Amino acid sequence: MRPSLGKTSPVTLITPYMEELKMRNPRTLISLLAAAGVLGAAVSLRAAETAAFVGAETCAGCHAEVAEKFAKTFHGRKAKSSDKLKAGCESCHGPGSLHAAAGGDKNNPGFATIKNLKNLSASEQSAACLTCHKDAKQLMMWKTGSHATNDVSCLKCHSVHAGEGRKSLAARSQGETETCLKCHRKQKADMNLASHHPVPEGKMFCTSCHNPHGGIEGNLKADSLEELCGKCHSEKLGPFAFEHSPVADGCNNCHVVHGSSNDRLLVMPQPAICTTCHWKPHSQNAAAPGTIARISGKVRCTDCHMDIHGSDYQKHFKP
Ligand code: HEC
Ligand code: HEC
Ligand code: HEC
Ligand code: HEC
Ligand code: HEC
Ligand code: HEC
Ligand code: HEC
Ligand code: HEC
Ligand code: HEC
Ligand code: HEC
Repeated sequence: MRPSLGKTSPVTLITPYMEELKMRNPRTLISLLAAAGVLGAAVSLRAAETAAFVGAETCAGCHAEVAEKFAKTFHGRKAKSSDKLKAGCESCHGPGSLHAAAGGDKNNPGFATIKNLKNLSASEQSAACLTCHKDAKQLMMWKTGSHATNDVSCLKCHSVHAGEGRKSLAARSQGETETCLKCHRKQKADMNLASHHPVPEGKMFCTSCHNPHGGIEGNLKADSLEELCGKCHSEKLGPFAFEHSPVADGCNNCHVVHGSSNDRLLVMPQPAICTTCHWKPHSQNAAAPGTIARISGKVRCTDCHMDIHGSDYQKHFKP
């Protein structure tokens, strides 16, 4: 049913959603029709006060293409079974009777009663999504997270109407990393350096370490840096019989995380990374690195001090 455009008689006003009402509640329809016939002016006034829900069929009458595409999206598919989405389009756009009745006439005051989330402020956009998603575990820290506090709304990363199924929501399979790198230029450059976490290779994601919806510090997916690194590199954390104290102090004493031009994500190349703290290694004995290196061909400090993160066997971290 395609409502006629441009006419303003009270009956035309309600025709767009007559079918819908007929299906849902025949008595309302009858009383509306009666009112329209007898007290036409009163109805249009009342209509201007409060919009009512008309159902997705009515929206589809004019927004056929949008509706067809929406049906394939994740929300679209869920709309069939989820209570939260049972109002269809209007679960997000608000009740649409006045908009529908405006018949596409932008000058009709009813037209703009439909909520276009694109035109809202960042915090209003997010609030609209959160009406249904506020209880999601991932979103618990949203309000204090650096995206919310920097006006990055849900819509910067998620698209409700684009794409099909779960993918439409900037999920991992579809350009998630690219979404992040659109804004995070420094991390993009870092990830191109010789040593980096294998994000560009697609073996991991920004979200392997970060929760884009907020986190304790730096949106990290852990309570601390060490806990985070330990999730994937637990063997470096110890405890060891012989600890290397800067390791327990923080992986970032020696490593950067996104990318480095030095081997192994090191802050500095060897031996400088070691000699900043051990400014005169081997000073008390004959085994000066230079001497041993010449004899043995072992040139890096960690060629000999291999268990640099700590050892259960040897206090000098040699295997
Ligand atoms: C009588 C035809 C008609 C009906 C019915 C209709 N719309 Fe629209 N709608 C339009 C036209 C025309 C526009 C402006 C052109 C466009 O953006 O496609 C529009 C624009 C919109 C916009 C953008 C508004 C803006 O401020 O830019 C939204 C959102 C929208 N409609 C949602 C809905 C929803 C939800 C429903 C069902 C409740 C609905 N429409 C029913 C004709 C209709
Ligand atoms: C889960 C929430 C949600 C549902 C359900 C939803 N929309 Fe939207 N809609 C949005 C958001 C968010 C936008 C803002 C732009 C975007 O993300 O594409 C939008 C934008 C629009 C626009 C304006 C596009 C523009 O370019 O200005 C129209 C028209 C529209 N939706 C129609 C519909 C129709 C018709 C339905 C039902 C078939 C529907 N929407 C269901 C969230 C929703
Ligand atoms: C009217 C309720 C409602 C609104 C408003 C709503 N959603 Fe949803 N959304 C759902 C439901 C229901 C699901 C299905 C999964 C579930 O039950 O949590 C879902 C699923 C999702 C998922 C996928 C979850 C997954 O498990 O993969 C994302 C992402 C999402 N919504 C983002 C948004 C964004 C962004 C907005 C704001 C534009 C929004 N939603 C607005 C009801 C809503
Ligand atoms: C900075 C980008 C970004 C912003 C902003 C963002 N999201 Fe997400 N969201 C993602 C990514 C990426 C994923 C997939 C994460 C993953 O798989 O770990 C995701 C996943 C989700 C999921 C699915 C969670 C699950 O457990 O499967 C929901 C629901 C969701 N987001 C809703 C929202 C809502 C609501 C907002 C706004 C309040 C929002 N998102 C803001 C990037 C973002
Ligand atoms: C629309 C732009 C935009 C997108 C897209 C975006 N961000 Fe952000 N992000 C920001 C802004 C702005 C800030 C706050 C300023 C800053 O720290 O750069 C920020 C901050 C962060 C922070 C720093 C947290 C802190 O407190 O130091 C992390 C981590 C982050 N974003 C991760 C991500 C991830 C992961 C994605 C992709 C899922 C993503 N961002 C997508 C704009 C964006
Ligand atoms: C292996 C884990 C890991 C991965 C993968 C990762 N990050 Fe980070 N990120 C961190 C840690 C840890 C910090 C905090 C750094 C610090 O405090 O020294 C951080 C900090 C940030 C910050 C805050 C500014 C800064 O540099 O300190 C932003 C923004 C950021 N990351 C974005 C991203 C983006 C975008 C991606 C994907 C391209 C990404 N991160 C991938 C662990 C990671
Ligand atoms: C989600 C898992 C994950 C987390 C969390 C993580 N890493 Fe990694 N890390 C990896 C993977 C995967 C590689 C690549 C291993 C490979 O190529 O064999 C890697 C490689 C490295 C490398 C070697 C890089 C090179 O050039 O060979 C260093 C150093 C490193 N990580 C340090 C850290 C530090 C420090 C943290 C905490 C800030 C951390 N990682 C957090 C998964 C993780
Ligand atoms: C005192 C400096 C220092 C600290 C602190 C440190 N590392 Fe390392 N790490 C190194 C050096 C040096 C290498 C390179 C070893 C080599 O190439 O022989 C390395 C290599 C690595 C590698 C890649 C090589 C491998 O063995 O898999 C990972 C992963 C790693 N470190 C994780 C961590 C984590 C996690 C922490 C914090 C718990 C940490 N590092 C703290 C110095 C340090
Ligand atoms: C941030 C400072 C720092 C950095 C960087 C550092 N160390 Fe250490 N290292 C220490 C401290 C502190 C100790 C404990 C000193 C002590 O017990 O006398 C230690 C202990 C050691 C020991 C054992 C010494 C002993 O007498 O038991 C060796 C071997 C060692 N470091 C090698 C290295 C090498 C090789 C590197 C470079 C990959 C390195 N360290 C980087 C601070 C550092
Ligand atoms: C060829 C092997 C080798 C290389 C290369 C080497 N070391 Fe050692 N290092 C040793 C041995 C063996 C000992 C133990 C000496 C001893 O038992 O008298 C030692 C002891 C140490 C100690 C503890 C005692 C002391 O003299 O302070 C530190 C600290 C140390 N090395 C740091 C370094 C640093 C930093 C480098 C790189 C600049 C380095 N080493 C390179 C073999 C090596």
